[in-house]
Amino acid sequence: MKSIRVEAQNGTYDVMIGHGLLSHVGELVSERLKGRKALLVADDVTSRLYAYTVAASLKATGIDVATFAFPHGETSKSWSMVGDILSKAALENLTRSDFFVSLGGGVCGDITGFAAAVYLRGVPFVQIPTTLLAAVDASVGGKTGVDLAAGKNLAGSFHQPACVIFDPEVIKTLPKEQIDEGKAEIIKHAVLAGGRLYEIASSGALLDDIEEVVALNVEIKRNYIQADPYDTGCRQLLNFGHTIGHAIEKCSNYTVPHGQAVAMGMVAETKAFIKFYNEKSEILEIIQSLLEKNNIKFDIPYTAQELTQAASHDKKMASGKLNIIAPIGIGNCQLRSIPISRLEEYIESGV
Ligand SMILES: NC(=O)c1ccc[n+]([C@@H]2O[C@H](COP(=O)([O-])OP(=O)(O)OC[C@H]3O[C@@H](n4cnc5c(N)ncnc54)[C@H](O)[C@@H]3O)[C@@H](O)[C@H]2O)c1
Ligand SMILES: [Zn+2]
Repeated sequence: MKSIRVEAQNGTYDVMIGHGLLSHVGELVSERLKGRKALLVADDVTSRLYAYTVAASLKATGIDVATFAFPHGETSKSWSMVGDILSKAALENLTRSDFFVSLGGGVCGDITGFAAAVYLRGVPFVQIPTTLLAAVDASVGGKTGVDLAAGKNLAGSFHQPACVIFDPEVIKTLPKEQIDEGKAEIIKHAVLAGGRLYEIASSGALLDDIEEVVALNVEIKRNYIQADPYDTGCRQLLNFGHTIGHAIEKCSNYTVPHGQAVAMGMVAETKAFIKFYNEKSEILEIIQSLLEKNNIKFDIPYTAQELTQAASHDKKMASGKLNIIAPIGIGNCQLRSIPISRLEEYIESGV
């Protein structure tokens, strides 16, 4: 088992990664939490596949388990679903010393974490990610929340998990499109940090050793979280590919999956950076080749005008400025800021 400690100012916890860990959740959690009752939250798919194993492991260490399952998919990342989780916790008489467990992808982690952040003004929660994306990204960092009708992730809270437990065996049941979602974020981390993850990504062998790849990703994300727990500074580098990526998702009415949109966004933002700053750099070819090696498509099916219109509602632009990521080289990315009036010019340079 690999264990990575995250020491953020708003919480310290271990991310544990190892084959077969789902059957040891009870011991791992008991070592860290005193609560004797857990609310296990999963979507219908992860509940059917893995809830029995996790619940049995918790019960074997004397923890009482109540379960809550919700319909899978982004539409469940809602205010009303969080309300239903809270009602279930109250009905089961969970106290402030008890805890929640999220067993699922990013949707499950985001709503369970948010419910845990507000139940009795905050109870601990355990993240058990079951998608590659949740393992390498969503389960670490403490961002929790829901979508509103006005847009994605518009309400939420920072609430760090008590621990994160990832068992690579769960990836065996994950559909290919869902694996690609995770791959795009892994490539983003490889561009930002370089090093061993970049080496693995360049060889196109991202799934040969999932334990190692997830651990490398968690270490990279950990470094940003520790430096900037509330996402006001360097953590924004993790948004690489996401400004134009979100605009692509919006233009497609969310039919282009997030990971694919981020891949397109990384290429477009790199092109825009090179043209905007008149850079002489091979970074664009390097990023395109990384994506090709890992079979991720990046051609954008929208015009600059369509994307600009979609991007102008982005919450990241509230201050009249847009923070952009400058990929100067592998392992060397910087935050820069441009006036919002140059948004169209920036996007036009990228597509
Ligand atoms: N909090 C954060 O920092 C953060 C970071 C990135 C993304 N996110 C959020 O994460 C969400 C996306 O997460 P996701 O891609 O994991 O989506 P998801 O949670 O919707 O899961 C995707 C699908 O995979 C299924 N599934 C999950 N695990 C499975 C398994 N092991 N085998 C078979 N099927 C399985 C689910 O039932 C679901 O249908 C978005 O809402 C996004 O905003 C949050
Ligand atoms: Zn993302």
